[in-house]
Amino acid sequence: MADIITSKETLVQTLKQAGTMPAPREVLMATPKHFSVDYVINPHMEGNIGTVDKSKARWQWEVIRDKFRNLGFRVHEMEGESGFPDMVFTANQSLPYIDPKGHKHAVMSIMHADQRKEEVPYFEQWYRRHGYEVHYLDSEKIPDFEGMGDAIWHFKKKILWGGYGYRSSRRAYEIISDTFQVPVVLLELIHPAFYHLDTCFCTLNEESVLIYPPAFTRDGLELIHSAFSTVIEAPEMEALELFACNACCPDGKNVIIQKGCNEVNKALKQHGFAFHEVDTGEFLKSGGSVFCMKLMLW
Ligand code: ARG
Repeated sequence: MADIITSKETLVQTLKQAGTMPAPREVLMATPKHFSVDYVINPHMEGNIGTVDKSKARWQWEVIRDKFRNLGFRVHEMEGESGFPDMVFTANQSLPYIDPKGHKHAVMSIMHADQRKEEVPYFEQWYRRHGYEVHYLDSEKIPDFEGMGDAIWHFKKKILWGGYGYRSSRRAYEIISDTFQVPVVLLELIHPAFYHLDTCFCTLNEESVLIYPPAFTRDGLELIHSAFSTVIEAPEMEALELFACNACCPDGKNVIIQKGCNEVNKALKQHGFAFHEVDTGEFLKSGGSVFCMKLMLW
């Protein structure tokens, strides 16, 4: 039965009983060979059509890839495909999962925008080649679901945080909860510039999270505060212009983040995290930064 959490009391209880999940050790990235801004499907892309500097994008992408490698992660590279300028955002096309027996699974996304729908089969092929069990959502019943753009695992716990409102539907989480037997905490997104959960919610470790509060409802903020004892709040400029909350903390210690997020970095340091600044300037033109340029795997 689907286990959907919308109340603080149930969440606190669920957190206490939740099973553990290993931290991911591998990363999937898609080369930015065909990355560009060709259409507008989020407010950040407005005015940026045709402005991407391809060689700069390649360089920025390689720095991020090497960052993950240097932190000890195995990075899988897939070739970006022509005609899919957003394919480089590999957080979006699927949601991977490892079950208690160590078997690997993935739910394939139903992209919200027509322009991105055909990216998904490339990821499906990748999963099949790598021994994953692939699961599908019924597109007759579920309008959209954009993978780890909106569905984010609690660090090392068998609990999923599910954002909905712009790119993913609530209904998708009922199916996912059922399929994987995992509780899903629902968070409604209410700010159009923060259209994916990963633009305003970055899990750091079991007890800590970085958020942009105006992206959430009062109830959502209450859920977040009842689950995490440390909630770092990004200021507007850093969240909106530098995508501070689209940072990635893959190991509970090191945070890879767009350069210039000074307030957030100060807070990260105070709470014992190390920050690694990278330049994702070309990708910000498309409404994405570190978190959505990779997919964490086991
Ligand atoms: N241009 C892409 C889109 O609008 C950017 C996706 C960024 N991904 C993310 N998870 N925030 O779909």
